Amino acid sequence: MASQDTLWERFLKPVFGLIMDKKALTELYESKDWQKESDALSQPNFIYPEYYRSQNFHGIEGGYLTIEAAISYDAITQYALPPNEIWVRQELLKAIQVKPRRILDLGCGTGSTTLLLKQAYPEAEVVGIDLSPYMLAMAKDKAEKAGLAINWLHKRAERTLLSELSVDLMTVSLVFHETPPYVSQAIIQEAFRLLVPGGQIIILDGNQQMLRQTQWLTEIFEEPYIKVYSQENLENWLDLAGFRAIKTDIFWMIHQITQGVKPLTQTKPRQAQEESDFLANSTMNPAF
Ligand SMILES: C[S@@+](CC[C@H](N)C(=O)[O-])C[C@H]1O[C@@H](n2cnc3c(N)ncnc32)[C@H](O)[C@@H]1O
Repeated sequence: MASQDTLWERFLKPVFGLIMDKKALTELYESKDWQKESDALSQPNFIYPEYYRSQNFHGIEGGYLTIEAAISYDAITQYALPPNEIWVRQELLKAIQVKPRRILDLGCGTGSTTLLLKQAYPEAEVVGIDLSPYMLAMAKDKAEKAGLAINWLHKRAERTLLSELSVDLMTVSLVFHETPPYVSQAIIQEAFRLLVPGGQIIILDGNQQMLRQTQWLTEIFEEPYIKVYSQENLENWLDLAGFRAIKTDIFWMIHQITQGVKPLTQTKPRQAQEESDFLANSTMNPAF
């Protein structure tokens, strides 16, 4: 729900209004029939999760389900990723240890990270997945202008319906501070299912430890889940899903790059293991 007296509403929104290049945004807005572009990417009869369609994200009314959100996203995000948006996104690329033939960027938004991935691995098949057809339309436009062949899919990242063991590298940038923890965990489990053994997941997001200590930062951008994100631990979620070689690097104090590898020998994800251990020891098990 939109709050009227957050720092975002009172201070940052008017400032962003002043520094944004309104002429360039208007030109972009008028350059295409965005509704038609978004409709072409939309899955018919798509049912959006309640958390997603009923709230504002970073102060944008209607969340991500408007073309205005998609058009203004890059203009706002460049100021939200100090010291420099490209450097921050490149930290994610620097963490890549695999030679990816297929890359999935979950919650790809307007494709800023997805485009960098395709530029770095031109031979790889790169796929961007997002819940907003408007964000996907903007991503597609950017990729076409850059001459990059990327597939854009309108799907829930937590339930892609893609074949298991089909992806070498999964990336998730700036998504988990905007999703309820149960959705974030489901996305990580889906990533584990899709990855080949030895495949890697890399997550770029806000530094959880720092956010825990700077309450005001979690209130700036009118993000409904950033506070609960800051109280959680991405490494634990990767561990629970079955990932190993988990580690986190901090960049410029406010950004966190957390990564993990799907083990070569297939072990059950810890959560599933705990459930089956429980059943094996339970009196409900007919073997007892
Ligand atoms: C802050 S944006 C990040 C976009 C992009 N990854 C980036 O780095 O700029 C969050 C994106 O996650 C998408 N998203 C949120 N929940 C999702 C879900 N369950 N499945 C797929 N995309 C989701 C939103 O539509 C939005 O485009």
